Amino acid sequence: MVKNSKTEKKSLATERIDFNLSRDYFTDEQELLRYKKEFYQSNLREQLKEKAEEFSQKVRGKTQRGYDFELADLGFEQGIYLYSILRKLKPEVAVETGVCNGFSSAFILLALEKNHFGKLYSLDWPEVAGVTYEEERFWRGKRGAVIPPNQEPGWVIPVELKSRWELILGRTQDKLPELYAELNQIDFFLHDSEHSYECMWFECNCSYEVLRSSGIMMFDDISWNCAFQNFAQKKNKKIFYIGEDLGFLIK
Ligand SMILES: C[S@@+](CC[C@H](N)C(=O)[O-])C[C@H]1O[C@@H](n2cnc3c(N)ncnc32)[C@H](O)[C@@H]1O
Repeated sequence: MVKNSKTEKKSLATERIDFNLSRDYFTDEQELLRYKKEFYQSNLREQLKEKAEEFSQKVRGKTQRGYDFELADLGFEQGIYLYSILRKLKPEVAVETGVCNGFSSAFILLALEKNHFGKLYSLDWPEVAGVTYEEERFWRGKRGAVIPPNQEPGWVIPVELKSRWELILGRTQDKLPELYAELNQIDFFLHDSEHSYECMWFECNCSYEVLRSSGIMMFDDISWNCAFQNFAQKKNKKIFYIGEDLGFLIK
């Protein structure tokens, strides 16, 4: 069993989510089921399970802030919805913040590969297990998301999926505006980096500005604070929930 994975901690009420997403986003339930089935036919699930197991064998201990080291992945069930949504959306430009070991990135990259289209820009300010950092380096509320020693962010992503991927290292607060100045327009955004209200609010505002009409903005860990909910309300947009912690809006 993969102890540190969100996968093992939470089980989604998938029947309800399938029903809602089939009604609100996919053409019908068959379309969603087709994408889910397609995902299971790839071997990404098995590859990621192996990496998660490797992490739990190798990475033990606590951060300087006293939190247990964590894989902190998006979760498998959540990842399969992410995959299915991107298969339908077919983004040309996707951006995510918060890579860590690379689970969400792998789901996105598999969808782009199946689409034969698109590029993912991923931004991360990683914490390596066992490394001592100056105190101000990370947000004080940061928990135990780490990568193993001697690994790069995204180390779990299968090498054959990396051709559509660009990794940018740095704080989202510094790097996201620089990236958006280059890209001008994006089709998809996923937040899974610093879950402070200020950071999530900042990412909502700058990502929405460059998001194309009908593009998707998805946020993980939205129960940590109400930044995403407040933003959706301000823009008069409905939130589509995938469990309690993951949600998206359509511009
Ligand atoms: C929850 S983990 C991401 C998990 C990943 N999405 C997955 O599914 O495997 C959060 C990541 O964001 C990084 N991070 C924390 N604060 C950040 C910041 N201000 N800017 C960019 N990345 C940050 C963390 O170090 C960690 O690598």
